[in-house]
Amino acid sequence: MSAKVISGKEVAQQIRSEIKVEVDQLKEKHNAVPGLVTILVGENPASVSYVTGKTNTAKELGYNSIQDTQSEDITEEQLLALVDKYNKDDSIHGVLVQLPLPKHIDSSKVLNAIDPDKDVDGFHPVNVGRLVVGEALFKPCTPAGIQELLVRGGAQVSGAEVVVVGRSNIVGKPITNMLFQKGEGANATVTVVHTGTKDMSAHTKRADILIVAAGKPKAITADMVKEGAAVIDVGVNRVGTTPEGKAKLNGDVDYENVKEKASLITPVPGGVGPMTITMLMKNTLVSYKNSLGL
Ligand code: GUN
Repeated sequence: MSAKVISGKEVAQQIRSEIKVEVDQLKEKHNAVPGLVTILVGENPASVSYVTGKTNTAKELGYNSIQDTQSEDITEEQLLALVDKYNKDDSIHGVLVQLPLPKHIDSSKVLNAIDPDKDVDGFHPVNVGRLVVGEALFKPCTPAGIQELLVRGGAQVSGAEVVVVGRSNIVGKPITNMLFQKGEGANATVTVVHTGTKDMSAHTKRADILIVAAGKPKAITADMVKEGAAVIDVGVNRVGTTPEGKAKLNGDVDYENVKEKASLITPVPGGVGPMTITMLMKNTLVSYKNSLGL
């Protein structure tokens, strides 16, 4: 079997078109647009690339899009004051602080300072709590993108054995919480495996849906995958440069070999990545509509 490749790029484009139509209609009616600020501290190349993608996409959709870049040596106090400024700005509906932050800054303290109603990443403990009890205001962007890809890619999520590789706050924990909830695109049996798991492949081989956010190239090889599984690769590993001088990316899955065994697979790049940005746009739209009482 050779897998159907789900293009995150195409699905993302479709959802972005839907968002654009709604934003244009709302602008006409309310004379205002969604506002998103993305705060970047320092010059980490991966972070610069992510933040540029977020800022540009927001601009393309007609948002008030601000990229606020701060130097690596900004103090924690200054960063907290900046977050507070945007919390109070009525033209801003989404406040995002790109992670990771420099070591001298306590990331939790900064994330906790974002107004939960503007926390379009969904990382504030209040929003994590809302997600766990099944009352999410904002679904975290990467997990929300994964869920959309599964549903639009035709995977049967309800009743499926899902195995999540990795237990991060950004991917592993929230996708687990989302997929075992009752409801559409969920209702699955979810197992999380991580660096403390004794026999990783004993679990991955049982998975109807395998979601890989391990942070390691070729963490999943074909022998670890069940015939016909749907495989979502969340990894972004920089493995050199292209002839054009751009970063060359690989996922966490041995794509060429796993593709022959899976029924569905996402590529890297062009899989989960474009979906993450699109879900951020969706969350910002939700926040803007909430601010209008819609
Ligand atoms: N760093 C890597 N992924 C993310 C993300 O989704 N949001 C933020 N704020 N930082 C990240």
